[in-house]
Amino acid sequence: MVNGLEDVIAAETVLSDVDGANGRLVVRGVSLDDLGGSRYEDVLALLFGGFFPGYGNLAASLGAARVEVFEYLTRDPALFRLPPIDAMRALVARLPDGDDLGTALRLLAAPAVFTPALLRFSSGKDPILPEASSDHASDILRMCSGKAPRSEQSAALDRYLVTVADHGLNASTFAARVVASTGAGLTSSALAALSALKGPLHGGAPGPVLDMLDAIGQPENALGWLTSALERGERLMGFGHRIYRVRDPRADALKTAVRMLAQSGAIDPARLALAEAVEAAALDLLKHKKPDRPLETNVEFYTALLLEALGFPRAAFTCVFAMGRMGGWMAHAREQALTGRLIRPKSVYVGPVPREAA
Ligand code: ACO
Repeated sequence: MVNGLEDVIAAETVLSDVDGANGRLVVRGVSLDDLGGSRYEDVLALLFGGFFPGYGNLAASLGAARVEVFEYLTRDPALFRLPPIDAMRALVARLPDGDDLGTALRLLAAPAVFTPALLRFSSGKDPILPEASSDHASDILRMCSGKAPRSEQSAALDRYLVTVADHGLNASTFAARVVASTGAGLTSSALAALSALKGPLHGGAPGPVLDMLDAIGQPENALGWLTSALERGERLMGFGHRIYRVRDPRADALKTAVRMLAQSGAIDPARLALAEAVEAAALDLLKHKKPDRPLETNVEFYTALLLEALGFPRAAFTCVFAMGRMGGWMAHAREQALTGRLIRPKSVYVGPVPREAA
């Protein structure tokens, strides 16, 4: 029995390879470093090839799906009282289920359309209609603010979506594959994945990263604050990873994107300086606290800064993660379904034995 299934291999995949020893991520034969200038739609085409034949011009199909999905929006006030990830999941649950390309495209469009609409509803504004001809990242930003985004903002969101599009058998992808293996359909897989993603040990960390930065306040407070947190037995959000034993390559990709945003004036230099001081202090402390367990910066640390700079409220960060990871979930769910094999591991019973057998 391996608690947490650490090192257990539970699937064969052609979709992505997480090389934890060397800090390398490969998506369908392409290293993350070489995906730097790609658009999210290009990475989707990479992931979908062979799993969803017939998608044609994926940017156009995804644009049409955004327009279609807008029709599934509801103005139920009960939704606005929920955290955005729960409200978004409730809206996704209303989409038709299936295993076809149309279902996959609707699910890809869903977090991109529902999240901006929910954010606008909750501040008393009307949602903005998607534009089918726009690229995905620009349309998301426009549906949030009502204004055409600057090119560096679209590029930063694209970089983020590409960076998180797929990542091996992480918790949410595994959840998607388990559900897909039962033949339940892509919407059911996406709902399972969304539920797994919201936890702070997985996709729910970037909001708490900003809470940590706010609590620290100034670079000179970093060491003292982080030391106290570790003494209380807390985990430092944005650090550590199940697979990576060196730096998470996604952290570097996003740090570069954050620095580019800072150059264009979209990030307060003091905020970036604080984050860099906190990162340096945390890495130093973690090295001394756990000399045998390398604990490095993970994807969530610079995600927090990037999404904040793009104007997303921290409560919606997990929804933005879902916008990117949905591509991976769809391809993995399809890959699993095509094996035709139900995922059904065993457990070891350690409970009380019936009286007569004692
Ligand atoms: N801060 C302090 N200590 C840590 C951290 C951290 N961020 N991460 C791990 N540790 C410690 C654990 O306390 C544990 O110590 P112990 O052996 O004395 O109990 C040791 O390192 C090993 O930890 P595990 O729980 O075995 O590591 P695991 O592989 O399960 O953890 C995880 C990975 C969940 C990401 C963990 O590092 C963590 O909780 N990080 C903080 C939350 C976070 O950033 N989540 C986002 C992850 S990225 C993503 O999923 C998209």
